[in-house]
Amino acid sequence: MNISIIGTGYVGLVSGVGFASKGHDVICVDIVEEKVEKINRGKPPIYEKGLEDLLKEVVDQGKLIATTDIEKAIENTELTFICVGTPSSSDGSIDLSGIEKAVEDMVIPLKEKNGYHVFCVKSTVVPGTTEEKVLPLLKRSGKKVGEDFGLGMNPEFLREGIALEDFLKPDRIVLGGIDERSLDVLSIAYEGFDSPKQKTDIKSAEMIKYTSNALLATKISFANEISRVCEKIGIDVYDVMEGVGLDHRINRDFLNAGAGFGGSCFPKDVSALVRFAKENHLETKILDSVLTVNDEQPVHIVDRLNQIIGGLKGKRIAFLGLAFKGGTDDVRETRALPMVEKLLELEADVVGYDPEASENFKELILKDIDYSENLHDALKDADICIIQNDWEEFKRLEPEDFDTMKGDIIVDTRRILKKEEYVDKFTYIGVGCDN
Ligand code: UDX
Repeated sequence: MNISIIGTGYVGLVSGVGFASKGHDVICVDIVEEKVEKINRGKPPIYEKGLEDLLKEVVDQGKLIATTDIEKAIENTELTFICVGTPSSSDGSIDLSGIEKAVEDMVIPLKEKNGYHVFCVKSTVVPGTTEEKVLPLLKRSGKKVGEDFGLGMNPEFLREGIALEDFLKPDRIVLGGIDERSLDVLSIAYEGFDSPKQKTDIKSAEMIKYTSNALLATKISFANEISRVCEKIGIDVYDVMEGVGLDHRINRDFLNAGAGFGGSCFPKDVSALVRFAKENHLETKILDSVLTVNDEQPVHIVDRLNQIIGGLKGKRIAFLGLAFKGGTDDVRETRALPMVEKLLELEADVVGYDPEASENFKELILKDIDYSENLHDALKDADICIIQNDWEEFKRLEPEDFDTMKGDIIVDTRRILKKEEYVDKFTYIGVGCDN
């Protein structure tokens, strides 16, 4: 099948490479020439594990090309996935200007197109957007939906770091369509995937994405709330969740207490869903609390540390992990930001370290902190070590690696160290457990 993908950001490029690897002929479109040129050389403009190798392979095979020419891309394909970013506006609602601009650029090629074409939104959009915002723009072409063109919505569930795997072997594929004909075309695109497929209407597909992310975020905030109770009564939330998660109706995944959820999806999507419900005159008591607990959690961790050691003024802190999670340089909504800001407010002296994200973090934080080029320099002479994310490099740490520290306090926010190896020799402060 000939498929065009509009937007070569995270979702667009992973989907384009994924579809091409399944044998489709893919044209990726972006307005930024530099990105297009890089992709055509087999170089992904973003970092994602495994993407460079597979991109190179499909470019060499001629299965994927990139261009800035949207008209040609639509003319030469039967199906277009819209994968442009939908960032948060300052009020928490989603900013649709990128998607609107992209769809406006599709009007002329659609007008001139001979033959049926399906447009499918992959970007995360609140229910109603595809039919109420995207469709009216496409209709400006004078063409008729259902006759000349089809419309669909196909949410993505990609996790950074394992996005290709998530794309190629997803738990499920959700296909929303305005009619059977659109759904048939989408089904052909996904023929080579053996995951369960759900065919539904467009609004439900849009809502499935938000509901999935909101429920996963709810599990995390729930675990963080329970972790505070466990800390108080001196038991370990990880033991508790092990027992709880053995119930298959609950499932252990996403019940890891920590510094809270960050990244490009959960905070943005939960806020957008809350905002959407409010616009519809509905209260969102559970989701409001999910966001509140998530905002409080990083500050709670620093406050607890401050209380345990009786003041952080002048303490040198090795702060390990600036990205929102390990395995990425992405600092969007990273919990490192509120934690470091709180530490600075308490007049601590912070040295940040992350294998990939230091440069991005420097741009995010307004205040100056020191940065270390490597893990061991960060730890040297530190009074306290705080581990904020779960890079493999941090998971491999052994008690001896902390020997160069001046102090003996280790704050393990993601519970990646083996607690029993530390409790005798160090003041081990793990989220959700006795210290
Ligand atoms: C998420 C969704 O998993 C994915 O389906 C969606 O398409 C995009 O958003 P991603 O943001 O890449 O993916 O990261 P994920 O691994 O899900 O983690 C999100 C955040 O939650 C991270 O900050 C992570 O550290 C945190 N988290 C995750 C927890 O605090 N506890 C957990 O148990 C799981």
